[in-house]
Amino acid sequence: MRILVTGAGGLLAGALRQQATDGVELICLSHAEFDLTNASLMEQRLAELRPEVVINTAAYNAVDQCEVERDLSWAVNATGPQHLAELCAARDSRLVHFGTDYIFDGAQTTPYSEADAPNPINHYATGKLAGERAVLAASPRHLALRPSWIFGQHATKPRTYVHVILRQAIAGNVIRATTDQASVPTYAPDLARWTFALVQGGASGLFHTVNDEGLSRFEWTRVIVAEALDAGVLAKPIEVIPVTTAYFNPNIRRSPYNILSNQKLAAFLGETPGSWRRGLREMLRQPPWQPHTPPRDDD
Ligand SMILES: NC(=O)c1ccc[n+]([C@@H]2O[C@H](COP(=O)([O-])OP(=O)(O)OC[C@H]3O[C@@H](n4cnc5c(N)ncnc54)[C@H](OP(=O)(O)O)[C@@H]3O)[C@@H](O)[C@H]2O)c1
Repeated sequence: MRILVTGAGGLLAGALRQQATDGVELICLSHAEFDLTNASLMEQRLAELRPEVVINTAAYNAVDQCEVERDLSWAVNATGPQHLAELCAARDSRLVHFGTDYIFDGAQTTPYSEADAPNPINHYATGKLAGERAVLAASPRHLALRPSWIFGQHATKPRTYVHVILRQAIAGNVIRATTDQASVPTYAPDLARWTFALVQGGASGLFHTVNDEGLSRFEWTRVIVAEALDAGVLAKPIEVIPVTTAYFNPNIRRSPYNILSNQKLAAFLGETPGSWRRGLREMLRQPPWQPHTPPRDDD
């Protein structure tokens, strides 16, 4: 199966490259090679490469900056995926697109299912929802997957939340984390495996693609620190101070609760997607994290 992956320099694209199974020919194109804001370039590349499936990992992901660069972020997150979805439908290629958990307003206190109504509360989420809806409207064969809080290693851009926290902790800095945001950390290699399973299993429509175990950003940060201690990456405990979102940015609205249910994904896979804990432990035992003390191997 010939699959074109957009956003080749990103986190998920890297995981897709690592997890590609036998029988999959991956063609990964960078931002410059396949720009979502350039419909004629996309059309030309699709005609040249003739992929059976396109996996669109490209997005404008800087949530706060979306409020500033409103037009550009909309072009990448909403209009671009719409054009791509229409181009793919016209060529009979299936498109796999990624939405986000941020489309929910957080009024609910139990995990959101695919049937729950979105209500985006910032420009990033509004654009991502428009993109996702356009993709699903363009063809009944297209897939829209909603991950949340993706983390994992990346060859050149180590910048996920886990990296940020570990760098601060290793430097001995006090860490602050929000108690009023909750979601599900999702391990990029797991997400890549589920993506291939959904594609190869002929899935279409909307799926929540997250690991098990939602929690607050504050709790997630404490787990990262605790696991880093266990793995020997951190030499001594570091305090995590609870704060609210307004501490970091009083100007952006963020939903307090974005925990997604992965029951539909579990039913498709025939097994529970599993916790992010295994992925976090795996990540902490890979370069560049150096043990300062012998790791406590309790996997
Ligand atoms: N990361 C998360 O926690 C998270 C959570 C929920 C949903 N998602 C969604 O999951 C998907 C994958 O996320 P990710 O973490 O892998 O993202 P990422 O690491 O930020 O990668 C996104 C890629 O898109 C590229 N890009 C930006 N603008 C583009 C354009 N106009 N045309 C083509 N490429 C462009 C970027 O290239 P440059 O860097 O060169 O601009 C980057 O390589 C995205 O749809 C994202 O919205 C992510």
